[in-house]
Amino acid sequence: LKRLTVPALRARKADGVTAEPLVMLTAYTVRTAQLLDAHCDLLLVGDSLGQVVYGLPSTVPVTLEMMAAHGAAVVRGSWHAVVVVDMPFGSYETSPEKAFESAAWLLKQTGAAAVKLEGGEAMAPTVRFLSERGIPVMGHVGLTPQAVNVLGGYGARGRSAAEADKIVGDARALAEAGAFAIVVEGVVEPIAVAITEAVACPIIGIGASARCDGQVLVAEDMLGLFDRVPRFVKKYDDLGTRIGEAAARYAAEVRERAFPGAAQTYAPRD
Ligand code: KIV
Ligand code: NA
Repeated sequence: LKRLTVPALRARKADGVTAEPLVMLTAYTVRTAQLLDAHCDLLLVGDSLGQVVYGLPSTVPVTLEMMAAHGAAVVRGSWHAVVVVDMPFGSYETSPEKAFESAAWLLKQTGAAAVKLEGGEAMAPTVRFLSERGIPVMGHVGLTPQAVNVLGGYGARGRSAAEADKIVGDARALAEAGAFAIVVEGVVEPIAVAITEAVACPIIGIGASARCDGQVLVAEDMLGLFDRVPRFVKKYDDLGTRIGEAAARYAAEVRERAFPGAAQTYAPRD
């Protein structure tokens, strides 16, 4: 399996139609990347690692250094999927130049192929600046978690006509600026469908619509490894319960002196 490329994924949507939906999951560690890679077109080193890995209250405190460390691990653990690294809050918003410096540093540190950043029309010049200088950019509109302090929470977006128009306009502006794909998160379904139809690049939904050009979920959410998940998450397994059960069996065997057994101990010679 040769590693996919950004242009190959962008080309999956031609003349407004995506024959085969794009599959994306988050990965933060080498082992997760190894396990998910063959099944995915894209692996996202999401700044959701702030909550999922570090127990932070939001993605706002996540740093470039954290993204670089996890991004490098995910690239080392994958050989097939395109690895996209989230630009953390504060690393790109003030100017296209600042964004380029942050993004270039991330790509150098990690070996990833692309970055993702949040925001609509206001970020279009930055998307253009990076794309024209060798850094593919994935956009992210709708519910943008880095803006939680402005949005006031993580509820679905686009319930009013004005908000719906704004989100469609945001996606259109990013695509026209050269975004190779756009995540649309937490919007009422008709908006997700409208964006998918209106925008030339692939639209990757999360809490959006099955009619988007692709889907993304946080791997820990769909595996049952994270507790507070939004309603748009489908749990494909319950690994959290299984880990707890394994720990309980280990603890019981240690307390009964049943572990380690003969198979796990060294004889003087054999
Ligand atoms: O950080 C993240 O995991 C994301 C996805 C939910 C799209 O941005
Ligand atoms: Na993110």
